[in-house]
Amino acid sequence: MTDSAPFLIDDTDLSGFRTAISRLTRAGYCETAVCERLGVADISFLQWRALPIYREERLKLRDALGSAIDLFLLQGAVPAVELNRLFDTNDQGALVRGGILVIDDNGVARARASLFPVGNRLVFSDHAWPKLPHPGQSSIPYDQVMSVGADSRWLARATVRRPVGATLDLCTGSGIHALLAASHSQHVVAVDINSRAAHCTRFNAQVTGADNIEVIIGNLFEPVQGKCFDLITANPPFVPSPVDSLRFRDGGNSGEDVQQDLIAGLPCHLAPGGIAQIVTELGERDDEPISDRLRRWLGDAPMDILILRLREHTVTNYAIGHAEGDYDFGTFLDSVHEWADNLRTQGYTRIVSVLLAFQWSDPAFGPPWIRSEETGAPIGSAGGEIEALFRTERLARHPRLYEILERSLVRRAGPTGLMEARMLGSQQGANAQAHLLGTSLPLHQWLVPAEREVLVLLEEPLAMHDLVALASELGIDEETVFAAVGSLLRRGLVLLSDDPSVSSFMVNG
Ligand SMILES: C[S@@+](CC[C@H](N)C(=O)[O-])C[C@H]1O[C@@H](n2cnc3c(N)ncnc32)[C@H](O)[C@@H]1O
Repeated sequence: MTDSAPFLIDDTDLSGFRTAISRLTRAGYCETAVCERLGVADISFLQWRALPIYREERLKLRDALGSAIDLFLLQGAVPAVELNRLFDTNDQGALVRGGILVIDDNGVARARASLFPVGNRLVFSDHAWPKLPHPGQSSIPYDQVMSVGADSRWLARATVRRPVGATLDLCTGSGIHALLAASHSQHVVAVDINSRAAHCTRFNAQVTGADNIEVIIGNLFEPVQGKCFDLITANPPFVPSPVDSLRFRDGGNSGEDVQQDLIAGLPCHLAPGGIAQIVTELGERDDEPISDRLRRWLGDAPMDILILRLREHTVTNYAIGHAEGDYDFGTFLDSVHEWADNLRTQGYTRIVSVLLAFQWSDPAFGPPWIRSEETGAPIGSAGGEIEALFRTERLARHPRLYEILERSLVRRAGPTGLMEARMLGSQQGANAQAHLLGTSLPLHQWLVPAEREVLVLLEEPLAMHDLVALASELGIDEETVFAAVGSLLRRGLVLLSDDPSVSSFMVNG
């Protein structure tokens, strides 16, 4: 038996919902304030095991923000006195009729869904920790709507936020990406195969007044045959799973059941000049780079692909993290075995969390490319950086790069720290990773000597011929300087002047 939120709202209750949300906003209920109050650097670090600690150490002061956090994020119970301070009776009535709150005979309120802060926006979805007791629910339904998780937030932060015409959000779930895109798209189509998720997205759109979102129940691209989009976002089910118990999570034994069709469908639906962005996890085999698989799924479509590798999980940690049977060791260990066995059968040696971005390739810049970078998970808006990576990668591959450079001023992209690494008493090259107490020291970029000298010479912006002249005094020839600048450009360490003749040259190829 389940009694989770129905995500249905009557038009007459809309104004009650909207005032309730503006009261929460006035109480300061937003992502930054929640992190500060709970003492976490990132809202996705919240964990249910720490609930007593948050309450004892961080929520002792029961002001409106504290009550809102407990009620809508930590799945807690809030007494009448706190509820009445948060909402008037009209708002409370709307929240109860809309299926979001349950108030017992003593006036104690609990939420049947959570309200997740995403920046300054608020998104309703099913609870993050459905195993914790909450009104009436005794099992986790197959059609549970995914909460706003770390992966949802990574994609939200990485999405390019420039004005676009048409956006498609596949596997929309709570609708988080559709809702965010609604503010910079003329029209958004949100698709999910799970009708409960579609209801949740529609509910969020109604409550927030986002009337340019069209929500469709359907399988991936099927409902949008023949249509193209400037922005496509997707967070498909991706977990390589030996079970099929959660629609939002389980991606078949390989994890690829939905991913593969999603990526194969991009060429038919991505408009020229558009970008498709996907957050997912991919099982990695030692003898098969992830890039090969993506290319294969895309067929012959000439697309440039950016792979940002955010995290790696060993098979062991992945199996332990997903195993079922929290209350019984025997069941838990059997489940660990089942998960690990499945991953080994797939030949996966690790699972990688990735952000993928796809754009149509321009044949003027040579064959389609794939660039893969090890990065951390995004902690703030990263859409601009992702577009910049596409631009610099193309510029560095431009067949007339040297001509472009000759017309440009070159400057450092920003403050740069240089560290010299030398391996003394070792046969290893200087680029061998340095260790301290057995741990690899983090190094952001390895530079070859000419690249380092060029960076040092760029005390101020320089025309290429001046840079070449200065470098020649250090014994570095012209060819090497051009190659070094091309490489630094690609890695975002130097920029070219915004000389309009350079940009028009780029556009006209
Ligand atoms: C990982 S959740 C992502 C939810 C949300 N976009 C987010 O980022 O928080 C995956 C979603 O894909 C939906 N889904 C699964 N298979 C699908 C399919 N074949 N077509 C469309 N949606 C699908 C699930 O119902 C679920 O809502």
